Amino acid sequence: MRPSINVVLVSLLVLVDVVSVCNGGLGGLSPVFYHKSFPEIGRIVRNITWSKVAENPTMAAKLLRMHYHDCFVRGCDASLLLDSTSDNTAEKEAIQNRNIRGYEVIDEIKARLEEECPGIVSCADIVALAARDAVSYQFGRPMWQVLTGRKDGKVSLSSEASANLPSAGANFTTLYQQFIGLGLNVIDLVALSGAHTIGVAHCGVFQRRLNVTGKGDVDPTLDPEYAEFLRTQCTTPAVAVALDANSSVSFDSHYFAGLRQNKGLLTSDAALLTDRRSARIVRRFERFHIFMTYFGNSMKKMGAIGVKTREQDGGEIRKNCRVVNAN
Ligand code: HEM
Ligand SMILES: *[C@@H]1O[C@H](CO)[C@@H](O)[C@H](O)[C@H]1NC(C)=O
Ligand SMILES: *[C@@H]1O[C@H](CO)[C@@H](O)[C@H](O)[C@H]1NC(C)=O
Ligand SMILES: *[C@@H]1O[C@H](CO)[C@@H](O)[C@H](O)[C@H]1NC(C)=O
Ligand SMILES: *[C@@H]1O[C@H](CO)[C@@H](O)[C@H](O)[C@H]1NC(C)=O
Repeated sequence: MRPSINVVLVSLLVLVDVVSVCNGGLGGLSPVFYHKSFPEIGRIVRNITWSKVAENPTMAAKLLRMHYHDCFVRGCDASLLLDSTSDNTAEKEAIQNRNIRGYEVIDEIKARLEEECPGIVSCADIVALAARDAVSYQFGRPMWQVLTGRKDGKVSLSSEASANLPSAGANFTTLYQQFIGLGLNVIDLVALSGAHTIGVAHCGVFQRRLNVTGKGDVDPTLDPEYAEFLRTQCTTPAVAVALDANSSVSFDSHYFAGLRQNKGLLTSDAALLTDRRSARIVRRFERFHIFMTYFGNSMKKMGAIGVKTREQDGGEIRKNCRVVNAN
């Protein structure tokens, strides 16, 4: 017999808690990595991140997405932050990364940390902390634990970003396989997709849904009134539309409520309703405290993908997040 979703969800939570108590369970990351070397790091990252988000509330979504796009390609190693060089086209040039913003926030945090304590904090850890703090600003307290100890990678290839980042047009099967391939599961897929409760998407990435066969017909899985609204908004492919139409700067569970009314903006959002297990999780996550608990756990798992914590992983602490250290 298949265990009920409640049992699955509760046992997952217990498992995740045990892992975090027995420190070192997630790819060698630690809850106390900088406690001795640099205890002020948490305060400094939070201070700068919070003031950026206070100034510009849309920055929370940018920093959250940056961490995701970093982790899904070569693991969370800040490979996304490297600039292209004369003989290499870096991840940030890939089409999927063209709208990533917030690099200058990471640069500012890095500069401040290097001033206080040079050569200690990796860019990959800064991205993970800034993503958490950016989302947490609205709540005034940290919403999940960020483990640290990542080293920065030395390789960044545009082709890998194109190949590994899920596409906005992906169906459930493809999304599921991409997440499983990275050690994530269906709960993580639904929880992390809930990040789309904040931020925007450009009309170009979903406009096929408004004109499926080229005869002006709307994707039948899209609510017709919402489709009509989107059509009035999308005068050009460059227009940006809220992913959660009702509250795009508030981190809440409206994304799931909208999804259930066929108002998920991307095909990949709507796809979560096409599988029985994920559709059931979508319903559970309409309750904010449940969603938030799982989101935090899934962020922690995502933040441990492919991390370079061991000597043989060949990572480094970059001096400048945009370039690999000179020898
Ligand atoms: C499940 C697969 C996913 C797909 C196919 C996907 C796709 C997209 C696309 C196409 C956009 C709009 C980009 C643009 O037009 O500028 C977007 C925005 C965004 N995504 Fe995802 N995403 C996925 C998962 C995630 C995850 C796991 C996170 C974070 C945990 C995330 C966080 C965001 C955020 C915060 C935005 C808004 C960015 C902004 O306002 O600039 N997404 N996503
Ligand atoms: C950051 O620190 C400065 C100086 O200590 C303080 O004035 C400011 O209010 C802090 N900002 C936030 C958002 O905590
Ligand atoms: C999902 O998309 C993949 C890749 O485009 C395709 O090969 C597959 O047939 C699709 N699966 C379903 C169930 O539509
Ligand atoms: C749909 O796409 C076709 C072919 O690209 C285009 O000629 C037509 O104007 C579009 N219709 C609408 C309503 O966007
Ligand atoms: C926004 O909220 C209204 C009222 O609660 C609801 O009817 C509507 O479907 C929501 N729209 C979206 C896109 O979630």
